[in-house]
Amino acid sequence: MRRVMMRFAGREVEFVDRDVALRQLDELAEGGTWWPLVVYGPEGCGKTALLRQAFELLSEREYDVVYVNPLEEEARRLVVTEGLRDIVKRTWREVLGKAVHPAAPALVELAMAVVSRALRRGRGRIALLADEVFQAVGVDRAELLVKAMLNVIEHPPQSYDKAVVVVASSEGVTRARIGRHRWSEIRVMWNMPRDGLQKLHDLLPGEKPSFEEAWRWTGGNPEALERLYRARWHVDVVVDNIIENKEVTAAFVRRWRAHLPRSLEDPDYLWEEPDAEGLAKDLVEKNLVIPLKGRRPDAWIDVPPPERDPELGIGKYYAWQTPIHREAVKRALRQ
Ligand SMILES: Nc1ncnc2c1ncn2[C@@H]1O[C@H](COP(=O)(O)OP(=O)(O)O)[C@@H](O)[C@H]1O
Ligand SMILES: [Mg+2]
Repeated sequence: MRRVMMRFAGREVEFVDRDVALRQLDELAEGGTWWPLVVYGPEGCGKTALLRQAFELLSEREYDVVYVNPLEEEARRLVVTEGLRDIVKRTWREVLGKAVHPAAPALVELAMAVVSRALRRGRGRIALLADEVFQAVGVDRAELLVKAMLNVIEHPPQSYDKAVVVVASSEGVTRARIGRHRWSEIRVMWNMPRDGLQKLHDLLPGEKPSFEEAWRWTGGNPEALERLYRARWHVDVVVDNIIENKEVTAAFVRRWRAHLPRSLEDPDYLWEEPDAEGLAKDLVEKNLVIPLKGRRPDAWIDVPPPERDPELGIGKYYAWQTPIHREAVKRALRQ
C-alpha cells in the first residue's frame, strides 16, 4: 500500500509505523463494520494521520470513500474518491443550496447525505471516515449522529457489498454518552510506540534532545514532539500553553487540591477514590486524562500502552494524555 505524505514539523513526511492499526483496518475493509467504529485517543496521537492513511487503504481496496473533518482547513474538510465527485456536486446543491463555505454541522450532514446517496445507487463498497465531527454537531447531538450512521449501514436503501464507518474523536465528554448505547464499537488509540516516535524524532533537523528525553516528555505523542520542536525544546513554553488552553486555573486547582497530588503520582487514584470522581470527570472533559479500556488488543486500535508506566503517567484504568499534560497540572498546582 502506498504510504501517504503527512505534514510534520513543517516538512513532508511519509506516514510511519502503526502497522497493527493498518492490519486492523485491512480486516475491516475485508468484512465491513457492523457498527460505526468510534476511535478515541489523546489529542495529537495521530488519529487524523491514521484516517488519511485509511483513506488510501480503503480506496486501494476499491471502496468509495468520504472523509470529513469540519476542523480542517477548507480544502481538506471534505475529501472523496473519484467515483463520488458527481454525487457530491449534486448533493451539495440539494443539501446546502448555494452555500460555498458550509458551516461545520452542514458539512457533516452533507457527508452523511453523500454516503446514503452512494448506497442508494446500489454500488459495492462505501466508507465514511468522520474526523472530529462531535464538536461540529454539538456534543449533545453526538449520540444521535452515531445512531444516524448506524442506521445508514444497518438499513441501507439498497443492497450493497460492504460499508465501513470510522469516527475519530479526542473529545472526552462524548465518550461516556456514546458508550451507554449499543450503536457503535468504541476503541482507544494510544500515542505512538517507541519505534514510531523514534522515526519522527530522527527526521527533526537541528540540535535536539536525545530520543530518550523526547520520549519521556511526549510519551510517544507526535504532536507533543512537534510542539517541543517548534518551541525550540523549551518545555516550559509548551507546558504553559497547555495550562492556558486547558484552563487549568487557580480555581480548578483549589477545588481539587486534596486529590491532585495523588492523581499526578498515579492516575489510577482517579479510579479508586470515590471522592475523586468529580476530578476524574473534569480531567477527562479538559482532555488532560483519558480513560483506558483494559488491554485486550481488540479494544484498541494499534498497540495498547503498557499496563502501567508510572514514568509516563499511564495507569491501568486512566492515563495522562502525555507527560507534558501531567506536567502542566503539576505546575499549576505548584503556582
Ligand atoms: N503515523 C504518522 N506518521 C507520520 N506523521 C504522523 C503520524 N501520526 C501523526 N503524525 C503527525 O503528528 C501530528 C499529529 O497527528 P494528528 O493526526 O493530527 O493527531 P490527532 O488527529 O490525533 O490529533 C501531525 O503533524 C501528523 O502529521
Ligand atoms: Mg485530528
